[in-house]
Parts: sequence; C-alpha cells; structure tokens
Amino acid sequence: MPKVRKAVIPAAGLGTRFLPATKALAKEMLPIVDKPTIQFIVEEALKSGIEDILVVTGKSKRSIEDHFDSNFELEYNLKEKGKHDLLKLVDETTGIGLHFIRQSHPRGLGDAVLQAKAFVGNEPFVVMLGDDLMEDKTPLTKQLIEDYDKTHASTIAVMKVPHEEVSSYGVIAPQGRGLNGLYSVENFVEKPKPEEAPSDLAIIGRYLLTPEIFDILDKQAPGAGNEIQLTDAIDTLNKTQRVFAREFTGKRFDVGDKFGYMKTSIEYGLNHPQIKDNLKQYIIDLGKKLDKTHKEK
Ligand code: G1P
Repeated sequence: MPKVRKAVIPAAGLGTRFLPATKALAKEMLPIVDKPTIQFIVEEALKSGIEDILVVTGKSKRSIEDHFDSNFELEYNLKEKGKHDLLKLVDETTGIGLHFIRQSHPRGLGDAVLQAKAFVGNEPFVVMLGDDLMEDKTPLTKQLIEDYDKTHASTIAVMKVPHEEVSSYGVIAPQGRGLNGLYSVENFVEKPKPEEAPSDLAIIGRYLLTPEIFDILDKQAPGAGNEIQLTDAIDTLNKTQRVFAREFTGKRFDVGDKFGYMKTSIEYGLNHPQIKDNLKQYIIDLGKKLDKTHKEK
C-alpha cells in the first residue's frame, strides 16, 4: 500500500469575511499573534510526516509564496545586527517542499482540489483547510494517516457542532461505529438546513482521500452555493469504496470568521512566551472594568 506523502492546501478563497484586510493580502497570511495561519497548517503537515505540499492559490496570494521563500535582504540584515533568534524564526519557513498552483476561477473547494490531480498522481493524499487550526497530542492529519495505514480507505475528520450551525458545514449521516472508533457513513451532505441535517457531525477541514476522488471531481456538477463541492464528490466516492469518518476529540480553532479569529488570537496569545503574562493581566483588568460598567447599567 502506498504511503501518504502529499498534502493539498486550498488557499484560493477570496477572504471576503475579512475585507478590507484581504483586498491585497491573502487571508491565509493573517497572523495569529506573530505567525500566519497557513504556517500552522504547514507545520501540522510536517509533524504528520508529509513530505510534499501543494498550495492552490489564486489572486492576491503572492505573499504566501514569498513567506515560504528565502528573503536574502532580511536575513543579511538580521545577521549583521546579531539578531539570531529572529533569524531562526525566519529560517523556519524556508526550504520546505512547497509547490504552488493557481486556480484561475474560484469555482469551489472541489475544483480547487481538482487542480492537484497531476501533483498527487495515483497516491492517497490529505487535504488541509486553512480555516481550521487543530490541536491534539497527535496532530489530526497524523491520526488520519494512521487510520489509512490500517484501513487503506479515505477518512474524513468530523466534530460535533451546535445543531443551529450545521448549515455552515458538510455533515455526515453516520451508520455506526466500528474499526478503530471510525464511523461508517451513509451519506455526506454539504450545508444542509438544520431541519434536514442527518446529524450534528460536521466535516472540519482535514481529509484523507484516495486518488479515485479526482475522476469523480472531473465530472462533478455544481452543488450548494452553485460551487463544485468536495463533499458531493466524497459522497459519490463512498458509493464505490468505503469512506470513514474520524471524530476529532482535540481542540479546534475556527479562524475563518472574525469572532473565531479573535478568540484564537487571544488563546494563542495566552500561550505565547513573550506576551502571555501581560495579556493575561490585561484581560483580568478588562474583565473587571466591563463587569463594573455592566453593573452600573
Ligand atoms: C468547507 C467545506 C465544508 C466543511 C468546511 C469546514 O466549507 O465545503 O464541507 O464543513 O469547509 O470548515 P466552507 O467553510 O469553505 O464554506
């Protein structure tokens, strides 16, 4: 059985939820404290044993390529000034096996993944969405790869979400739990209305897929939101070969909207060696102030 070595990171979305910040800047470059969100995704891939990564980009995404390239002027400057700690941070983002391809017309997630067909070839691979940062003892992508090593089947990460939020996600109709705690799945449905959703188990941005998905994506008609949906192609794949779902039990940070992004920034800030003490004190003081104004009202 082939080893899982390749990852695809779709990063062609327009980032409309963060306008005007994302007019000229890729949303994947928005930092959580001091690190762009896409760097967390790349780090998860590397920690999971991935060797080659394809980033599917679009307009206004040059900054992603620049971020993972060397910057001679900056490195020279830091070296001259003896700022070796900063130099180390800059070094961490270069020399990674990253490849880029542009999706000229954003036609949906399924279409973005289809751009990776030639890169992936006939191997199993993972898809990692940049809007979800995952934390667990074993990286989620590694958990999916370990599942694949046992089942040789596609596996999609899911997590329980509040019922009224299911319409923002792909949702599974679970059939039962078996081997290694994995769900068998009857159907995969993209963005169902809460009253029609088959469960509250939502797809959360990490997929391990077999290459047969590409032939399906090639023919996939537009679905929800008139976009080519990866979920629809997975549903078709599940009719011809088993597709499992793994329920993620770690912590998920949704950086795809403003409130999620703020919460993530605060939580990561509270763990950041340089600012955690000051930030904690600031939040305590702010809490007291808000509490006081709340009582006065
Ligand atoms: C995409 C997928 C959806 C999945 C979600 C996870 O939706 O289409 O199935 O549940 O990511 O974040 P999007 O958030 O791009 O609308």
